[in-house]
Parts: sequence; C-alpha cells; structure tokens
Amino acid sequence: MKPLKGLILSGGRGTRLRPLTHTSAKQLVPVANKPVLFYGLEALAAAGIEEVGIIVAPETAAEIREVAGDGSAQGVSITYIEQDAPLGLAHAVLTAEPYLGDSPFVMYLGDNLLREGITELVEAFRAEAPDALILLTKVPDPENYGVAELEDGRVARLVEKPPEPRTDLALVGVYMFTQSVFDAARAIRPSPRGELEITDAIQHLVDTGARVDPHLVSGWWKDTGQVQDMLDANALILDDLHTRVDGELVESRVEGRVVIERGARVERSYVRGPAVIGAGSTIEDAYVGPFTAIGEDVVIARAEIENSIVLPGSSIADLEGRIEASLIGRGVRVGRATGPPRAYRFVMGDSSEVTIL
Ligand code: G1P
Repeated sequence: MKPLKGLILSGGRGTRLRPLTHTSAKQLVPVANKPVLFYGLEALAAAGIEEVGIIVAPETAAEIREVAGDGSAQGVSITYIEQDAPLGLAHAVLTAEPYLGDSPFVMYLGDNLLREGITELVEAFRAEAPDALILLTKVPDPENYGVAELEDGRVARLVEKPPEPRTDLALVGVYMFTQSVFDAARAIRPSPRGELEITDAIQHLVDTGARVDPHLVSGWWKDTGQVQDMLDANALILDDLHTRVDGELVESRVEGRVVIERGARVERSYVRGPAVIGAGSTIEDAYVGPFTAIGEDVVIARAEIENSIVLPGSSIADLEGRIEASLIGRGVRVGRATGPPRAYRFVMGDSSEVTIL
C-alpha cells in the first residue's frame, strides 16, 4: 500500500457552539488548554502519517493556518485546502481529490477525540487493505449520528441521523478510504439537509460490492460539536493529567492532579484537580474545582468555578455562587456592580447563554 495521507475536516461552521464560533473556529476551542484540532493532528502523526491536508472554510482559514502553521510542531506537513461552501463531508472529500490523488487516506473530523488514538486501526487498514474501514461505537443517542447495521460482522446498511435508529452503533468521525470513495461521492445526491453525506457515499461502496470493514472502538470517543460534549471531553482528557507545578503557589492548597503553568500565580486559593491553570493566569482567594481548564492570562478572583473551560484573557471576580458546567470565551469579563443601580448588566454576543441563581 502507498503511504497514507491524512485529511482533517475543519470546514464546519460550529453552529451548536455559538457564540464562541461567531469569532473563532470550533476546531480551535481548547480542550484541557489545547485546541481540539491538535488532538487529531497528533493522532495522525502517531499513526505514522506525514502528509496531512486540512479542509478549511473561507471564514476560518486564516485563523486555523495561524494556529496550526505548517504542522511541524505536531510532526506532520500540512497543506490547507479551502472548501467554498459547507456542502457535506463527501463534498469535502471531492474538494481534496487533487491533493489526495491515488493515496489511501485517513479522514478525521476535526472536532473528534479518541482516547486510544487511531494507530492500531491504521495498522489494520494497512494490513488488511479493504476498500474502506469505518469505526463504530455504541452510543445512547444514535439519532444524532450516522448509524450502522451489521450482518454477520459485515456492514449491511448505514443511515445518516435516522429519526428511529435500528441499532445503537454510531459512526465515529474517523474513516479510512482508498480512491474508490471519489466515485462513490460523485454518485450520490444531497441528503434532506442539503449535504453530500459521507455516510451515503460509504453505503454506495457497500451497494456496489466494495469491501468496507467495520471496527468497534473500545476507548472513549467524543464528537465535540456541542457545549456539553466539550465539557465531557475536557473532563476525560484532564482525568489523564500528570501533576506539574511550574507556576507560583502562595498560601494555597493544591489537591489531586493539577497542572499550573509557568508564570501562573495561585494565591490564598484552593485548586482541586484534575485541573489546569494556564500560563500567566492569576487565581486569588478563589476555588478552582475538578475538571476545570483555565486558559492563559485569566484572572479568577474571589470566585469559585468547577467543571468548566475558560478561554484566554478572561476575568471572573467577586461572585457569590459557584460557576459550573460553563464554557467561557476569550476576553470575557464577569464581575459585580460596585455602585447603583444594583442590576444585572449584560453585553452578550449573538446566541449567548446565561443562567443565573
Ligand atoms: C458527522 C457524520 C456522522 C458521524 C459524526 C461523527 O456528523 O455525518 O455520520 O456520526 O459526524 O462525529 P455531523 O457532526 O457532521 O453532524
């Protein structure tokens, strides 16, 4: 088999992660202080893939290029490919055809996270050389995914987000293909949501007698398309943290697995891991609880927070209640009114969500 290429899809508009995605690509939202996209790049690199194409949307192309660069930090060589319109995953594959040529490839949805990585699955694809290999995992809400029906261990039928799923086997957002997928993607028609679905292209492969191998994923898998998924993924990654304190601790208590980056300062506070405090952040008279990722240059003062993600440059101060299960963007200010009028005052972007006590 020729060397595999990687194809990461980062063209999605991230509508379910608004307002963060009004100003930033969803694949750059950090999980445990690292952009989701980097987990995919690292998984491909670990599987021995050197050439990676990233599909980007015109709106987010510049930002993704700036963060991921040429890929050398992750050990890959990145080529950026613009997809003009969000016309579906199979459309993205066709957009990448000139780049992929006749190389077999791993397609990785840029918002997916797999704990065990993909190295063994890529090995299986190389060794068994099917026309395509798909990953499946049992989920409680299959109606939100592509759903597979197997017969005698073979793929019998794949349906995209069926209202009444016939199994609980969801398609994970990592697929391995040979060039047969291009003709399949050309043969299908847009789905009811107006997209060329990769699920339909794979069904076309099955229908035309191609060999599509299913593999069940054993470790956890997360598609971080929604806020709760982001928080779940953050918790799962933080759970594997190794304690490292490079920042400064003053009269503070640190318990459990905690990373405090260089230049961070924790004063008269209690940090209960798993948690990470980014470089240059200040935690003062505060509580940072389990499963919390505080980005760079954040201030948490006289406040309590847990099970949350705070992006760089934000500040949270003087709160009575504890912040929980929250996703807070860049440069956000949360504070208390000092004088009258005693009122809530909000400046929120489109699609913001606030829950008060
Ligand atoms: C896409 C695929 C779906 C798959 C999911 C995995 O859905 O269409 O089949 O199960 O990714 O993350 P989307 O997230 O684009 O709605």
